[in-house]
Amino acid sequence: MRRFFEEEVVYQIYPRSFQDSNGDGIGDLNGIISRLDYLRELGVKILWLSPIYASPNADYGYDISDYFSINPEFGTMDDFERLISEAKKRGIRIVMDLVVNHTSNKHQWFIASKNENSPYRSYYYWRKGRKDNKLPPNNWTSNFGGSAWTYVEEADAWYLHLFTPEQPDLDWHNPKVLEEVEKILRFYLDKGVYGFRCDVINQIYKESLADGKRRVRTIGLEHYLQKENNHQILHTLYEDVFSHYDCMTVGETGGVDFKNARRFTNEELDMVFQFDTINSDSRKIPLFAPKMQKKRFKRTLFAWQKELDWNAVCFENHDQRRSLPRFGDPKKYPYESGSMLATLLLTMRGTPFIYQGEEIGMTNYKNLKPEEYKDVVGLYIYSLLRKMHLPKKTAERVASYFNRDNARSPMQWNGEINAGFSTGVPWLPVNGDYQEVNVLKEQNDEESIYKAYKTLLKLRREDDVLRYGTFEETRTKSSFIAYYRLYEGGLRFVIANLTGHRVKLPQWIKRMRGEVLYSNYCGAGFLFKKVLRPYEALIIKIR
Ligand code: GLC
Ligand code: CA
Repeated sequence: MRRFFEEEVVYQIYPRSFQDSNGDGIGDLNGIISRLDYLRELGVKILWLSPIYASPNADYGYDISDYFSINPEFGTMDDFERLISEAKKRGIRIVMDLVVNHTSNKHQWFIASKNENSPYRSYYYWRKGRKDNKLPPNNWTSNFGGSAWTYVEEADAWYLHLFTPEQPDLDWHNPKVLEEVEKILRFYLDKGVYGFRCDVINQIYKESLADGKRRVRTIGLEHYLQKENNHQILHTLYEDVFSHYDCMTVGETGGVDFKNARRFTNEELDMVFQFDTINSDSRKIPLFAPKMQKKRFKRTLFAWQKELDWNAVCFENHDQRRSLPRFGDPKKYPYESGSMLATLLLTMRGTPFIYQGEEIGMTNYKNLKPEEYKDVVGLYIYSLLRKMHLPKKTAERVASYFNRDNARSPMQWNGEINAGFSTGVPWLPVNGDYQEVNVLKEQNDEESIYKAYKTLLKLRREDDVLRYGTFEETRTKSSFIAYYRLYEGGLRFVIANLTGHRVKLPQWIKRMRGEVLYSNYCGAGFLFKKVLRPYEALIIKIR
């Protein structure tokens, strides 16, 4: 039996930036409800919402202070229930974000845990420091920079946080923590939620608190990245909870390797996110601008297709720069390269994840000033570079490569005030390109990225080969990518130019015969044969 997520496509919503319904400049649940018809029309059937729980917003929802209530900025539990049922009417299911590596430091558990005698003490990692409690217990650094430990006077001890100090890590050695998390899972699954995207789920179990090897970033990693008990815990959640529901789970597993990914997706979770493809544009020296590296991009896609039976296919999320400027060309070939990326995303084997705005080719900020940054990572990198005495301009440029505000700018619905996102003052400025890039315009344009997504989503839904087929790579030069999908005698050939120039095709492709199911160039028969035009992408049904 096919499962829903194997047939359908996920659309990620960053609620704060999707649609504001009451003019306070913050996207909300009623805003999402008002856009459900847009999403149905587009053809997505699963919505993953970045966290909507109560949160003091140190990390915009990824610091949860109460798992059983909705952030009042977003609405109420009633609104959420209405969202679930309104979505259901349209055949759409809702997936939540599960953030359980850490809570907020304002969570009741954490507040109570400051008292040594509290039963909540052992929900977190409280330790005495070194050198008479003057120095942190070990040398670990946080993912967001600085020590991973913070001292609290009142507790006369240090607590561990792999992210900001406002995000204390839960101690998964304590079986109580697992119990609490199971309660959360059942609470939402029983409400009709379709599953969870599990935040930094391959780091939850700290095997030891010994010093980490010295390295430039995230010292301590080897003591907590995908440890044996991490797998055991997820298997328990699967046995106790997930396997009893018709639901979907996807893990955020940065730094995952093939072996662990296979384990995570075998009676633990359904899918995992790898970041090799997304990060294929990174440079050894992070002061240089990231740059599309076609070979690496292709290699990572092929490798994951080969090594995992079912991938979470994704080019964007709320932590990443936009994919169009990363892997395409928003200046010269926005439509061509955007639709080319859509073709790849929607024809790989696995469940595709579209991030809000990706379907209209939204881009990164051109000049957001550090004073306007909202993201802790952007702010941290900027201040670090300034401390290293880099000139302002350089610091701004480099920080912009890491600033997660890039993908969090408000959704661009139309060319009106604030791009139709809000009638108030948006919490984060609207990207300046919204007159050229917005949903309404894309819907009215003859040729647009939005229309490419819509067409491809429909094609995928109607074509079992594209959904269920095996993936067969071909070896070609790095300027273009080509692969087959094969299912019950049906064969599809996908080919795409990864560059902005014409690419000559080899003999074996010229000899191919077939019918064009999709092309991002007007009137492209499969007669093109000799060359691929800039960012040209085709899906061919081979006879
Ligand atoms: C994940 C989230 C990111 C968050 C971090 C800490 O990486 O995607 O947005 O900051 O976890 O929860
Ligand atoms: Ca609002």
